[in-house]
Amino acid sequence: MKKTIVLVTGGSRGIGRSICMALAERGCTVLFTYLSNEAKAQELLEEINLLGKGGGYAYRCDMSRLPDVIDLSKRIRKDVSYLDAIVNNAGIVGDGKPFLFATDEHWWDVIHTNVGSVTNTCRVMLPMMISRKSGRIINITSLSGQKGNAGQSAYSASKAAVVTFSRSLAKEVGRFGITVNCISPGLIDTDMTRDISNEYVANRLVWSPLKRKGGADEVANLVTYMLCDAPSYIIGQELTIDGGLGVS
Ligand SMILES: NC(=O)c1ccc[n+]([C@@H]2O[C@H](COP(=O)([O-])OP(=O)(O)OC[C@H]3O[C@@H](n4cnc5c(N)ncnc54)[C@H](OP(=O)(O)O)[C@@H]3O)[C@@H](O)[C@H]2O)c1
Repeated sequence: MKKTIVLVTGGSRGIGRSICMALAERGCTVLFTYLSNEAKAQELLEEINLLGKGGGYAYRCDMSRLPDVIDLSKRIRKDVSYLDAIVNNAGIVGDGKPFLFATDEHWWDVIHTNVGSVTNTCRVMLPMMISRKSGRIINITSLSGQKGNAGQSAYSASKAAVVTFSRSLAKEVGRFGITVNCISPGLIDTDMTRDISNEYVANRLVWSPLKRKGGADEVANLVTYMLCDAPSYIIGQELTIDGGLGVS
């Protein structure tokens, strides 16, 4: 049976790592990128290959830099020729400073990383999908992009931008058999949220129905469903997975 080949950006840790493992367990060939954490990337690659299923490839690549992503696409074409699916997961949250205390440089760095890593990947990899008239793209956004969050103005703005970018792209590429959707997690237990104070987390969760952070594996389950099982009639949507945090 033909293996499904999936690229996951920012796969070495957190949600991306769980997505890579969940897809590998489903028998997909998993290609993932990372920025700097070589040790974590190699550890994950070994785990994927130990499963003895579709196997994996790890690539160091700064997804926010277009020339690096162009170079990545050349390596991918050489290694596997094509992609069935892309999960744009790489992202940074920023330093948590209120807007007026954040430096202009840092503010734009968050926007540039979170929006640029998605647009660069789509710009460079989409032609591979268009020529095959098939593909699924999932962009990882955030509840912060829907609600806004104090100390996260750049992060929230960047994720909201990715949602409207995704809807527009979905309208452009649907006729080529390509679906584009977003998955929007709430508060998930990863390195990104581990430094947040217990008091802040408790305040955020106090009105939520489940009163707990989500697991990266729960987000990974939804991504796997969207890539492997969901009808291709779901297009341009943002699916929220937040334990009810956003509705409370
Ligand atoms: N955790 C949450 O509560 C939460 C909630 C909503 C949305 N999200 C979103 O979910 C995604 C993953 O978050 P996470 O919590 O798993 O984050 P994380 O634990 O901090 O992991 C981030 C991953 O992205 C990679 N990365 C960062 N910048 C990159 C770049 N420029 N190029 C390539 N890779 C890059 C990191 O690589 P290295 O290991 O090499 O540094 C790492 O693998 C992000 O888009 C985030 O905004 C997270």
